[in-house]
Amino acid sequence: MCGIVGYVGKKNAVPLLIAGLKRLEYRGYDSAGIAVVVENKISVRKTVGRLTNLEARLAQQPLAGSVAVGHTRWATHGEPSEINAHPHCDCAGRIAVVHNGIIENYHELRAALEAKGHKFLSQTDTEVIPHLIEAALRDGAKNLPDAIRAALNQARGAYALGIVSADAPDTLFAVRQGSPLIIGIGEDGDRFIASDVPAVLNRVREAIYLDDGILAELRDGSVRLTNLAGAEVPAKVQPVTLSAEAADQAGFETYMLKEIHEQPRVLRRLLEVNPLFGGGANFGLKSDYFRKLQRVMIIGCGTAYHAGMYGRLLLEQFTGLAVETDLASEFRYRDPHIDPGTLIIPVSQSGETADTLASIRLAKSWGCKVLAICNVPGSSLTRESDAVLFTEAGPEIGVASTKAYTAQQMAFALLAIWIGSARGMIDATACRSLLADLAGVPDAIHYLLDRKDSIRAIAQKHHEGPSALYLGRKFNYPTALEGALKNKEISYQHAEGYAAGEMKHGPIALINEYLPVVCICTKTSDEVYEKMISNMREVEARRGRIIALATDGDSQIARFAHDIIYVPYVRDEFSPIVNVVALQLFAYYAAQARGTDIDKPRNLAKSVTVE
Ligand code: F6R
Repeated sequence: MCGIVGYVGKKNAVPLLIAGLKRLEYRGYDSAGIAVVVENKISVRKTVGRLTNLEARLAQQPLAGSVAVGHTRWATHGEPSEINAHPHCDCAGRIAVVHNGIIENYHELRAALEAKGHKFLSQTDTEVIPHLIEAALRDGAKNLPDAIRAALNQARGAYALGIVSADAPDTLFAVRQGSPLIIGIGEDGDRFIASDVPAVLNRVREAIYLDDGILAELRDGSVRLTNLAGAEVPAKVQPVTLSAEAADQAGFETYMLKEIHEQPRVLRRLLEVNPLFGGGANFGLKSDYFRKLQRVMIIGCGTAYHAGMYGRLLLEQFTGLAVETDLASEFRYRDPHIDPGTLIIPVSQSGETADTLASIRLAKSWGCKVLAICNVPGSSLTRESDAVLFTEAGPEIGVASTKAYTAQQMAFALLAIWIGSARGMIDATACRSLLADLAGVPDAIHYLLDRKDSIRAIAQKHHEGPSALYLGRKFNYPTALEGALKNKEISYQHAEGYAAGEMKHGPIALINEYLPVVCICTKTSDEVYEKMISNMREVEARRGRIIALATDGDSQIARFAHDIIYVPYVRDEFSPIVNVVALQLFAYYAAQARGTDIDKPRNLAKSVTVE
């Protein structure tokens, strides 16, 4: 959840670290700090709040050096404060550590270290690491790598660590266990570490995706990898294919608005490159496996879970499979009686969400195959799954997920059509027709984006109330949940997504003339449309303020809705991919009217790598 960047090379590390941390600020942003090796000493600067505060501090108290680590923090242990900001040091101030993740047994480690006389300054779990390294050196470890290994053998939990020491002034150390960390290979001997590729995109064209339990020693022009037993392991260097521009704001006022606008292009590309229908990439599971398959379990968190709910409806409709969904944080603690023949489909933008990873590890221990839908190549999820369907959305920087969600929806649509065909549930003609309709979705979103001014005007009318209700049915029930989630995340207006049929079982009590009720009532070929009209009449009868999502040309809705967001027609099954974009824009403009920090909403972090 926090961001890590480190550098070793010939240049001054400080501006490189600040630039990298800026690109990572979306991962966590309540404090920031850097540690630089300067003349065989460690110098640290830390500040609370946004990175600009650290820049201001560095302007007053400059630092320069060619070996350094930096961090932006999203607090887990200990309040956001200068003391709790990373890097953390040992008693002698000769070892500095930045950390992403949680050291679970830090209480007992800290007590043992304090008993040996170590002095702690912060309330963080991280601070035990430099003290453990210091203790290992005092206890006779023969060098720093051995001392780091000794420390890690005692620490339990998930971590990515960047370490510098005054006693190894030419070296940057890095190690991970369950939290993402990459090594970037740049020009002229430049070597970086980063918790996320975008941090160093403009500086590196090759990367090493560090495996768990591997200690990296980076020096000007070299990287050495060893395992926790000290044996050297080969480095697998991979090209970085993302462009630096992909992680830039490209003239939009926020990343989120840019990413909303990227959706037609992202979805067109996904249709072109997907490995299922001739895109050519390697997919991992053969169609024979899907012919025999009986049951599917989809898991994810937050927005990814909503994509999974939509995916379930498509898989049920097109494949004849029994499909369930669960929140990864629930799945991992219940007793779901999953047999080895069940296919697990985890959905995740980052591929690093702790609960999702824990769930698939559990399912694999039961013998299940895992097919991931994921956006980040090289992420833990993609490395631990039997097959991956990449969403190809490029880096998503805005904390609220937008383009990754519609790409997940599109991936599910492709997968459901493909499995349905493999299982003989969809014939060649129906398959062609579905794919042709799916290919129309990016254009429909494009037309919708052209109408953003009218969506802004509606959002500006309804943003003030304390709460809003979102109603949808069948394919658009997940859309209602996702629309409400977007609204609460970025505008901080309480919003509740509900299956419209459940209204009479409780939430109807909320309705009065002040409550905005967003009703997703786009035209469908079955009875769902009529049922939504009935639900809108119920809201109207109680004087609720209806904001309807309606299909172009539908004049009926105007009879009850206060405001209408018209969306282009697409067939029922794919309407959620278009409808959600209208709700992303609606939430966006509500948040803008409420004056929130849209790209970095309070309390949230982009990637939830801890439980
Ligand atoms: C909401 C949002 C979160 C994520 C969730 C899962 O806008 O971004 O709800 O969807 O934390 O993250 P990933 O997809 O990275 O597993």
